[in-house]
Amino acid sequence: MIRLAAIGVGNRTGKYLRYLEAYPGRAALVAIVEPDPVRRENARKRFGLAAEDCYEYADDFFSEPGRCDAVIIGSPDSEHYSEAMQAISRGYHVLLEKPVAQNFGQCEAIARAAAKARVKVGVCYVLRFMPVYRKIKELLDSGIIGRVTDVSHQEFVGIDRMLHTYVRGYWNKASESNPSFLSKCCHDVDMLLWTTGARIKSVQSTGSLEWYRPENAPAGSTDYCIDCPVEKTCAYSAIDMYIRRGVWTDNFPVPERVSKEEVLQEEMRLGRFGRCAFKCGNDVADRQVVTMLSTEGMLITVLMNTFTRREGRRTVYSGTEGEIVADGWKVEVRMHKDGKVVTFDYGSEAAKPLHGGADIEIVDDFISAVEDPSRQPAIPISDALESHRVCFMAG
Ligand SMILES: NC(=O)c1ccc[n+]([C@@H]2O[C@H](COP(=O)([O-])OP(=O)(O)OC[C@H]3O[C@@H](n4cnc5c(N)ncnc54)[C@H](O)[C@@H]3O)[C@@H](O)[C@H]2O)c1
Repeated sequence: MIRLAAIGVGNRTGKYLRYLEAYPGRAALVAIVEPDPVRRENARKRFGLAAEDCYEYADDFFSEPGRCDAVIIGSPDSEHYSEAMQAISRGYHVLLEKPVAQNFGQCEAIARAAAKARVKVGVCYVLRFMPVYRKIKELLDSGIIGRVTDVSHQEFVGIDRMLHTYVRGYWNKASESNPSFLSKCCHDVDMLLWTTGARIKSVQSTGSLEWYRPENAPAGSTDYCIDCPVEKTCAYSAIDMYIRRGVWTDNFPVPERVSKEEVLQEEMRLGRFGRCAFKCGNDVADRQVVTMLSTEGMLITVLMNTFTRREGRRTVYSGTEGEIVADGWKVEVRMHKDGKVVTFDYGSEAAKPLHGGADIEIVDDFISAVEDPSRQPAIPISDALESHRVCFMAG
């Protein structure tokens, strides 16, 4: 049994830890670090941990040697570097959420420290585990569309996700987390580099925070949506999103003897998620386009599109013999010569929770790498450096 500890037991780690329930017997959760008391207590109960195995501070956990074999780090971006370095110095293998750190030097330092300590660090680039992108890699590797000349990728960041995460949420200031393109699209960039095998020699980037600024607030609007006279007609209303439609509410910690409705009402009155979308002090881009030129002359463009209700991705690989179009969970190969189209539909996977099961597979892969001295995780930190380099260049 691999002894696992979880650092930051929020949305992502909560999902990865479902692995323990899906594959009982391969790993055991022996400790958690979680500063939020409600989340800490909920996780303690969920995994049957003793109180002394549940730490408020990472430093306390790391000060005791030999606590585990491996850690999953799903804390905020700003904590990844110090927590990953401490884990490596203790000899713990690491499954690390993306983005790996807050600057490229830190990413390189983690990779160097891991290599020196012979510790395995896997990065949570879950797209590589999704059947659509695995199929695309297989198709491109077979050479079916000839030489890839250009790739155009669109990431749809639905408006609710944008508001919850990058406008009101914890990723709304680059200095406290990371630029939005890096936060949201680094695994897209990784997927594009992985599927095409491209190495990037230059990057051009254009983007800005265009809309969610105080000067664009509707006339007469107040600081909180709950008492705003124009709330009912505003497309960015927190009340509409969290109360009327009840979306993106799973991650609000609910203490014992308090109802979720009470938590939400309190949040709407005083919390960060009840604020007017135009008055959040946010500074990350709400639109960005990044163009990369590979050493082989391939052009790759990524558009982060946040003014849409749509979620997901659309990618077109153009080649000398044909093109591959991936839209959501469907992949089409269209040949130039005879117009023949072959379709691969993974729609049935879409219904599966946890990124179509990829969140569980990535943990399974990591546990296998920890068990087997001759194996590395599917995405070792050394493989994740290039996508981070590109995204830090894009800014
Ligand atoms: N791979 C993906 O698809 C994907 C998707 C979303 C987010 N992420 C990344 O995953 C990470 C976690 O995001 P999330 O959505 O789970 O956020 P979250 O806020 O739900 O969870 C983070 C948890 O870390 C805790 N925490 C805060 N400070 C900490 C500290 N110093 N040490 C340990 N824990 C601390 C918080 O209380 C919270 O419970 C982020 O780096 C984020 O960018 C990855």
